[in-house]
Amino acid sequence: MALKLRRLSNALGVEVCDADVSKPMSEAAFGEIYQAFLNYGILLLRNQDITREQHIEFSRRFGELDRHDALPRDRHPKHPELLLVTNEPNPDGTPSDSRYTGRQWHSDMSFTTTPSLGSLLRSHVIPEVGGDTLFANMTMAYETLSDGMKELIADLHGIHMSGTRKIANEATGTVRAAEQKRINPPVAQPVVRVHPETGRKALYLGEKVSRFDGMTEEESKPLIDYLNRHATRPEFVYRHQWRKHDIVVWDNRCTMHQALGDFDETQRRHMERTTVLGTPSGYVVAA
Ligand code: SIN
Repeated sequence: MALKLRRLSNALGVEVCDADVSKPMSEAAFGEIYQAFLNYGILLLRNQDITREQHIEFSRRFGELDRHDALPRDRHPKHPELLLVTNEPNPDGTPSDSRYTGRQWHSDMSFTTTPSLGSLLRSHVIPEVGGDTLFANMTMAYETLSDGMKELIADLHGIHMSGTRKIANEATGTVRAAEQKRINPPVAQPVVRVHPETGRKALYLGEKVSRFDGMTEEESKPLIDYLNRHATRPEFVYRHQWRKHDIVVWDNRCTMHQALGDFDETQRRHMERTTVLGTPSGYVVAA
């Protein structure tokens, strides 16, 4: 079967046209989808009006799923493989803890020692306009640095922190942030990671990185800020405008992303994400 692909931007991403993940898919057919995932970093599958079980089942084709022990408050109560990203209030009417999930540039689970291979986010409820997500191509970001900069950052490790999210719920937010820091001590990750499947080098940073290992925040910040700014230049970025029942799949090893929050917060936005486990990377450092 030859997949029908439509490029989403010059930097990254393709739409897999006519995909239907609810139907049985042969190994060969999935192999083509996986190859497109490696080639383009992001896949878009429109009109996937599927059940939670089908979302989980399709995600398993990409690898073993995270049960989100690092983010226990945000997972679906019946399906730990699903992470909620929602501004729908809690049953008691209080604001959802996860309403500000992903509002910083990041790569999923970078603050753990098994950062994610990839994620599959499905839109359930979207606002009338906005609620977009940005994605950046971190391979392009790395490859366009000068040789001098590549040499400078080659052996650096960035310290990735959990619990940096804006507090949504005054009653539980501070407790949650403290809990996140306790469950997930800071983890140092290489600033340059080699993609285990394509062999290409990519920048691995984002706004959860507070400093480089062995350096102070003051010393690290100018370079971290420069690299994040460089990586998110418009020519390296794709902006996704969601439609209901889209699934976007991204490769966390060579992209990073940010939920923009560019919508009327009185309207509902409800997304659910599976997270595919990656290979071990990085090491825990003292807080
Ligand atoms: C995430 O960071 O996983 C969520 C992104 C989004 O809600 O657009």
